[in-house]
Amino acid sequence: MGNVLIAGDLHGNTAHALTVVRTAVREECARVFVVGDFGAWEHMASGRRYFDVIGKAAKRAGVIVYFLDGNHDKSSLLHELYDDCRDDEGFLVCRKHLRYAPRGHRWIWEGTAFAAFGGARSTDKGWRLAREARKAELVAQRRRYGSSKTPETAGTLWFPEEEMTDDELTALLAADDSPVDVLLTHDKPRASQPKWNRKDKPECYPNQDRVQRIVETLHPSVVFHGHLHVRYTDTIASGDGQWTRVEGLACDPEASQYPEYAKEHSWYVLPLPYAQPEIEAAEPDSLPA
Ligand SMILES: [Fe+2]
Ligand SMILES: [Fe+2]
Repeated sequence: MGNVLIAGDLHGNTAHALTVVRTAVREECARVFVVGDFGAWEHMASGRRYFDVIGKAAKRAGVIVYFLDGNHDKSSLLHELYDDCRDDEGFLVCRKHLRYAPRGHRWIWEGTAFAAFGGARSTDKGWRLAREARKAELVAQRRRYGSSKTPETAGTLWFPEEEMTDDELTALLAADDSPVDVLLTHDKPRASQPKWNRKDKPECYPNQDRVQRIVETLHPSVVFHGHLHVRYTDTIASGDGQWTRVEGLACDPEASQYPEYAKEHSWYVLPLPYAQPEIEAAEPDSLPA
């Protein structure tokens, strides 16, 4: 059971999350790692139920589900609730079998060095803020007519902590810039070129540049990321004559807009210990462009 099932964005989709847990069992993976947009919405009752359901399903299946934060996760609340509740490897324990990897977290599984860096930019921030404002307005109206229902508005659709700042990243890399084998991120590195890219927009470039900087500092053999909602593989230069394989993972079926989607595109079985890919031994001329 040394394998880990790396999974793309779940967006709080319980049915798909349960499929991912079942897939982990079938593929003999003791661990699942979700690369962001997990659905960390514990400021809402539905979000707390989602955590409960996934935590219990993971326990029954005998697996532990880990995740990093995407732009649609309320990571500030995860820190608020669980910063003081960490396991031996430093993960934040949200439920016994459901754990969060904060930005810059590092760990070793089966001799393989990992690092996680969450966060990304939402391109529909304006729409999300407008919807929040409309919800707040409706709650205020209901209040005027005597409803005592607690509003669940601010931060339900857009979270100010969604992307790393340059200062945050600089501090994390200054704390530890030693190499890793496997890098897990939500956003893509700037240099990778997916066949279908819904995030090729100027406002997305600063965070993609941050992920690129992480790649060129830590020189991982492979990066797994989500956020683009499409499955692709690419190889990029990671500095000092090294190369990094990039594996973009698709998301849950409801959030996918990619015409050739298949749910199998949303996960990847990573055998541990991780074997260096053949590409590292290849001649530079034979490397993909
Ligand atoms: Fe995302
Ligand atoms: Fe997403």
